[in-house]
Amino acid sequence: MTSISKKEIIELLALRGGEQADLHKRASEIRKNHVSDRIYIRGLIEFSNICVNDCFYCGIRKSNNRINRYELTTQEIMSSVDEAVASGLTSLVLQSGERRDTLFISNVAETLRLIKDKHPDIGITLSCGEQNKNVYREFFEAGASRYLLRIETSDENHYKKLHPESMNFNNRVRCLRDLRSTGYQVGTGVMINSPYQTPEILAGDILFFRELDIDMCGMGPFIPHRDTSMGGWDYNIDESLNLGLNMIAVLRLVMPDINIASTTALETLSHQGREMGIQAGANVVMPQFSPAKNRNQYMLYDNKPVSEKPGSELVDLISRKIKILGLIPAAEESGTSIHYLRRNDNDSSC
Ligand code: 5AD
Repeated sequence: MTSISKKEIIELLALRGGEQADLHKRASEIRKNHVSDRIYIRGLIEFSNICVNDCFYCGIRKSNNRINRYELTTQEIMSSVDEAVASGLTSLVLQSGERRDTLFISNVAETLRLIKDKHPDIGITLSCGEQNKNVYREFFEAGASRYLLRIETSDENHYKKLHPESMNFNNRVRCLRDLRSTGYQVGTGVMINSPYQTPEILAGDILFFRELDIDMCGMGPFIPHRDTSMGGWDYNIDESLNLGLNMIAVLRLVMPDINIASTTALETLSHQGREMGIQAGANVVMPQFSPAKNRNQYMLYDNKPVSEKPGSELVDLISRKIKILGLIPAAEESGTSIHYLRRNDNDSSC
């Protein structure tokens, strides 16, 4: 599948009905053969919604003064971490809005060190935006081994339509390359069916992921947020859901051994969205472990599902759903990207 063309991807993304079901089945088979039937469960801790960026689509954008800003204390983060570990998880995602001030950076590094001191075997994915290479190195040395930074779109002109001038596509690509050379498992992703996106752009996103040789991907449909300039954007739920699922399936065909998340945005569009993402080829889910009081403050888009249930119950629920699909919930494995392991084996044998 490595020689797939843009035209072929566009055709696959457009499949619906029986042909779409066949595509998803094929992607599931590929997941089974290349990364097994195990679905990794990672505890998601959204530790702050303070953000210096002003992305036109995002509910926590800097200029949105209609939301309460929060930042979890180190103790709050640690109790979320402990709760995730007590639920049997061995892998965490720490995510926040973007900040580059020295206080933020030293707090994040210190928190990473505390987590690793207490739970040395936990895999930590960090997701706190664009930083310089020294900062990425500091976070890596403090204990983060994976990093997620969505490119949002691989088309520079499209990027400009979604972001203010202060944000720069090439800098984001630079960040992804710096993350790779620092030693991280690198994840990126895009919003699907976002304003001004075309099928060509989406197909280009898949080729971009392959060219960058990413280890992980988290992507989900765009959903308007009422307090943004794109809040009134007219979108079709079915179309967004179908495209979101087909993007997962096509990416699984093109990059068989990477980790692909079934994201919350899919669940916003359909109650079964996360299961559908798994059936389309995803192999990672991320139940929320932030304190319940803060969960509805990390509102990236309208109607983002927020559960009041403790993280441990969410793990039980999703585990049951994974079993119903005939798959294996894998909480106890930290789930290193097989793609990453293979690349490093090859590198070291050169
Ligand atoms: N719809 C869907 N996803 C969104 N994100 C931000 N705003 C929206 C939205 N309106 C996603 C972006 C970002 C991640 C944290 O949330 O892709 O990288």
